[in-house]
Amino acid sequence: MILTISMNMLYFCCRIYSMKGRVDHDLFDRKSVLITGGVGMVGANLVTTLSENPSVRIFIADDLSSGKLNFLSDKENVFFYHTDISKMDQLRVVWSECNPDYVFHLAAHFANWNSIISPYTDIQSNIVGTLNCLELAREKKNLKKFVYTSSSCVYSQSNDMSENASLYPTDTPYAINKFTSELYVKFYSDYYKIPGISLRLFNAYGPYDVSGKFRSVIPNFINKALRGEDLVITGSGNEMRDFTYVSDVVNLLILAATSKETGAFNAGTGEGVKILDLAKTILKLTSSRSKLRFIEKRDWDKVSCRIANTEKSFERLEYRPSVSIQEGLKCTIAWFRLHEVQLKEKLLKPKNDFFMREREAGAMAL
Ligand SMILES: NC(=O)c1ccc[n+]([C@@H]2O[C@H](COP(=O)([O-])OP(=O)(O)OC[C@H]3O[C@@H](n4cnc5c(N)ncnc54)[C@H](O)[C@@H]3O)[C@@H](O)[C@H]2O)c1
Repeated sequence: MILTISMNMLYFCCRIYSMKGRVDHDLFDRKSVLITGGVGMVGANLVTTLSENPSVRIFIADDLSSGKLNFLSDKENVFFYHTDISKMDQLRVVWSECNPDYVFHLAAHFANWNSIISPYTDIQSNIVGTLNCLELAREKKNLKKFVYTSSSCVYSQSNDMSENASLYPTDTPYAINKFTSELYVKFYSDYYKIPGISLRLFNAYGPYDVSGKFRSVIPNFINKALRGEDLVITGSGNEMRDFTYVSDVVNLLILAATSKETGAFNAGTGEGVKILDLAKTILKLTSSRSKLRFIEKRDWDKVSCRIANTEKSFERLEYRPSVSIQEGLKCTIAWFRLHEVQLKEKLLKPKNDFFMREREAGAMAL
């Protein structure tokens, strides 16, 4: 009963949000698309959208370090390859099977704090992995677009969060590496004429995000609120972030892939939300009795206000984010509730058929 209600609500939310600000993904008709990080939060949502068109063939390269196989689309046109992109021999296998027309390079060691704890893994996945993708793109004739997901953390302590701001991001290894990868994308675009575009994501959130030590504030707040545990705010709560619902991010990824534009573009909403207000809204929407607890700001987290300037994305990509924070949170909470029920009822079994498909397609065993 509870499961049916939750599923209906999630279906309802997802229908609404996939229709809002919808972009034309028929442009991918009969194309091959490689998505690195395709079972991560953004990747799983992108795969869901693109796989609606059965003529598109979607190949996922993901090492499952943070993504979950349970989040893999069960559509016939989606092929999963258990791949560490920092290992060229593994990446080459999925690349040759796919022979991509489009690459969405989303795989990354996530995120700032994690990069301080594990800087070697960070550089391997986030720089060597990007370089491997670009080197393979160089060998491919007529690649239509290489889309890279950078991060708003490249803005460091800058007040100017527009794409022409001068940048020197050194707050964390993740910031250094996301920016360095952007520079590689630009070099390969200018020098080798691989049409590359970087999207600087500002706090994306939505279904398929999970809570955890290194994960983002929204899934962590929702998880705590649903369990009745304290919501921990690092700092005063007056810090502001630009939270972007994932269907808007997916729309922008598709716009970026199908436009002629290259270079860097912001992927935010242009509106800020105070962390304190975010926490209170989540408590209200989940009818939770959890308390707020404040602790010291994290020493690497130096930016108190991070809001995208969206002018360039508006003008040149015709990007129009359309999901409000209230709407987006409702849908994300619905997904969390369903996910919890599924876990309890043990419905999230590993999808062995995909391992089978992986073997049939000749992917490398780890
Ligand atoms: N979510 C955000 O708020 C946000 C903000 C800024 C930038 N970004 C960027 O957007 C992209 C997608 O973010 P997300 O939220 O989906 O993150 P995520 O952690 O949910 O997904 C990343 C995926 O990459 C995979 N991965 C990691 N290392 C890999 C490797 N070496 N080889 C293959 N796969 C690997 C993980 O298993 C995971 O499935 C990332 O590049 C991230 O840096 C996200």
